[in-house]
Amino acid sequence: MMFRKILLFLVLVTTTYTGAAMAKNTYIIHMDKTKIAAKLFHEGDSMQTYQAVIDSINGMSLQKVDADQQQETMPAELLYAYETAISGFSAKLSTKQLQILKKVDGFLSATPDQLLQLHTTDSQQFLGLQNGRGLLSASNLASNVIIGILDTGIWPEHISFQDTGMSAVPSRWKGVCEEGTRFSKSNCNKKLIGARAFFKSYEANHGRINETEEFKSARDQNGHVPVAYLESAGSAASKFCLNGTLNETLVKGKIVVCDGASGNRYEKSENVKQAKGVGMILVNPEYKGDELTADPHILPTARVGYTTGKYVIQYASTAKKPTVSIIFKGTVYGKTAPVIAAFSSRGPNLVDPDVIKPDVTAPGVNILAAWPPIVSPTRHPADTRSVLFNILSGTSMSCPHVSGIAALLKSVHRDWSPAAIKSALMTTAYTLNNKKSPISDVTSSNSAGPFAYGSGHVDPERAVDPGLIYDITEEDYLKYLCSLNYTSSEIALFTDGTFTCPKNAAIQAGDLNYPSFAFNFKGGVQNGSLEYKRTVTNVGIPTSCYAVQLEVPKGVSVIVKPKILSFNKLGQKLSYKVTVVGKSKTSSDSTFGSVTWVSGKFRVRSPIAVTWQ
Ligand SMILES: *[C@@H]1O[C@H](CO)[C@@H](O)[C@H](O)[C@H]1NC(C)=O
Ligand SMILES: *[C@@H]1O[C@H](CO)[C@@H](O)[C@H](O)[C@H]1NC(C)=O
Ligand SMILES: *[C@@H]1O[C@H](CO)[C@@H](O)[C@H](O)[C@H]1NC(C)=O
Ligand SMILES: *[C@@H]1O[C@H](CO)[C@@H](O)[C@H](O)[C@H]1NC(C)=O
Ligand SMILES: *[C@@H]1O[C@H](CO)[C@@H](O)[C@H](O)[C@H]1NC(C)=O
Repeated sequence: MMFRKILLFLVLVTTTYTGAAMAKNTYIIHMDKTKIAAKLFHEGDSMQTYQAVIDSINGMSLQKVDADQQQETMPAELLYAYETAISGFSAKLSTKQLQILKKVDGFLSATPDQLLQLHTTDSQQFLGLQNGRGLLSASNLASNVIIGILDTGIWPEHISFQDTGMSAVPSRWKGVCEEGTRFSKSNCNKKLIGARAFFKSYEANHGRINETEEFKSARDQNGHVPVAYLESAGSAASKFCLNGTLNETLVKGKIVVCDGASGNRYEKSENVKQAKGVGMILVNPEYKGDELTADPHILPTARVGYTTGKYVIQYASTAKKPTVSIIFKGTVYGKTAPVIAAFSSRGPNLVDPDVIKPDVTAPGVNILAAWPPIVSPTRHPADTRSVLFNILSGTSMSCPHVSGIAALLKSVHRDWSPAAIKSALMTTAYTLNNKKSPISDVTSSNSAGPFAYGSGHVDPERAVDPGLIYDITEEDYLKYLCSLNYTSSEIALFTDGTFTCPKNAAIQAGDLNYPSFAFNFKGGVQNGSLEYKRTVTNVGIPTSCYAVQLEVPKGVSVIVKPKILSFNKLGQKLSYKVTVVGKSKTSSDSTFGSVTWVSGKFRVRSPIAVTWQ
C-alpha cells in the first residue's frame, strides 16, 4: 500500500514536471502597434499582423528547442485581436514562447487569463439567481460577453486574490465556515480567504465594537458609557458634531449623540475622536427616515433611524446622567425588501418629462464591494487604514448588478439590442415586496411609485423570457433627440454625421418606443387628450394572443387600441395606441397606472404616469 502511494506520487511529479515546461496558458498581450516590425505589420488587419507575430515566435521556439533538447510539440495559437480599448491580442503560449514574445518589438505586457470565482455574498440570491439553474446554468455561461464598468474599486489585487497580509480569524469569531474554491473548512481557523470570509470577519471585528482602551475605561460596572448631546457636549451648536463645536472637557470619555444632517458622516466621528469622545450615536435626520447605510467610522458608532433617534435624543436631553451601551446583535434576516433608499434619485424626468425616469430599481444599499487599497475606507486624509473591500451604497452599486444581468441576458439572446434588454428588464420588473405589499419608500415623506422605482425591481429570471419587447433603433433615438430640439449639427458631434433631423415631421418625444408611458397635461385639469404609439416585437411564443389589462390612473380615462394583439410568428411587430383623456381634478400633481399585455404566462407591464403641470 505504502509502495503504491509512493509510486503514484512519483508519477504525478514526473507528469507535472514535463507538463509545466510544455503547458500552455492563455495570455492577453498588450502591444504598441507603432513598434511592430514592418515585415510583420499588415495595415488595417490586426488579426493578420498578430498572426505574423505568432508565426515568427513559432519559428524561433522551434529553433530554440534543439539547444535545450526539449521538444516544443504545440505551436503558439492566436485567439483574438483587440482593437478598441487596447491594441493587442490573446494567445495560447507556453512559458518558453512567452519568453520569446517578450523580446518582440512592440511587446508591452502579458497578463495571464484567469478563471475568476464569484466573490459576492447575498445579492445574487436576492435577485433570484441560483448557481447551476436558469440564467446561471452551464449552457448560458462562458458566453463571450464581457462587461466593462469603470467605477470605484476594482484593483489588480482583487483579481489575483491572495491571503497574504490578512490576519488570522479572531478566536472569538463565531461565524460559520463555508466551503469555497479557495476556502476550505479545514483551513478556516488559519486564514481568512475570499470576500465571504472577509464579510464574516467584518461582522466579527466591526459588528462588535472596537474596544479601544479609551472605550473600555469609559465603561461603568454595567458596561455603560456616559452620553453627551447638545449642551452637554458643548452648546446648541454641537448638535451636528461639526469640527470645532465639541467641548473636550464635556465630551471626554463619552459617547456623543450626533445629528446626521449637515456635514460628512465620517467626519463627525473624527471630530468626536479629536474631542476625546469614545464613541458616537449617529441619528438620521427626518429626510433619511429609518434608512441605515453602513458607513466606516474611526470610533465605535451606532447608526439609528429617525424613529429610534427621537427616543435616543429625548433620553439624552432629559435624563439626569444618561448612559448607553452599544451591543452587536448579528445580522437580521426577514426584513421587508426591497425598499426604496432615501438617497435614490426620483422622477419626474427634468430633461424630458415625456419619458419616465428612473427606469428600474436594483440592489444598491450596503453592498460589499471591491475597494482600492491606496484609498482609506472613509476617503478621509486622517484615516490611514487600507482595505480591499468596503461596504458601499449608491447607483455605483446598483449599476454592476444591472450590467451583470444585462450580460446574462445578452448571452442567451445574442440578437437583442440594448433597448430590447432594457425593455425585458422593465416589463418584467416587480412592484410588490417580499411581504406581497407594494414596494415602499424608506422615508415616509416620499411615496414609492414609478417616479421612485420606474417599472419596478429587476427580476432576471423573468427578464430572460419577456414575451414581447419594445425595441428602439439607433435612428429612433436620433429622431427622439430631434424631438427635443437638438439640431442635426449637434447630433453630428457624436454620430458619423450622416443623420439629419426629418424636416417638418412633428415627432413627439412621447412616441419614443419606450416600455413605459409619461403623459403631461399642461395648463389645467380637463385639458383634452394625449396619444402615444408603441410597437411590440414577439420574442415569446410564435402563435400567441395578448389581451390588454389596464390599471387606470386617477383623474383620467385610458383607451388602448387595439385591445388584442395576435401574433403568428416570432419577430413579428404589432403596434398599438394609448390615449389618455383628462377627466377630473386630483389632489396630487401626478397619478399612476399601468398597461399590461397578458398571454398565458407572459405579463408585459408598462407603468403610466400622468402629470399636470
Ligand atoms: C480599533 O482601534 C484601534 C485603536 O484606535 C485601531 O488601531 C484599530 O485599527 C481599530 N480596529 C479596527 C478594526 O478598526
Ligand atoms: C478641524 O479644524 C482644524 C482647524 O481648522 C483642523 O486643523 C482639523 O484638521 C479639523 N479636523 C477635522 C477632523 O477635519
Ligand atoms: C467647556 O466646558 C467647560 C465645562 O463646562 C467650561 O468650563 C469651558 O468654558 C468650556 N469651553 C468652551 C470653549 O466653551
Ligand atoms: C421644440 O421647439 C418647438 C418649436 O419652437 C417648441 O414648440 C417645443 O416646445 C420645443 N420642445 C422642447 C422639448 O423644447
Ligand atoms: C392644455 O392647455 C394648454 C394651454 O392652456 C395648451 O397649450 C395645451 O396644448 C393643452 N393640452 C394638453 C394636452 O396639454
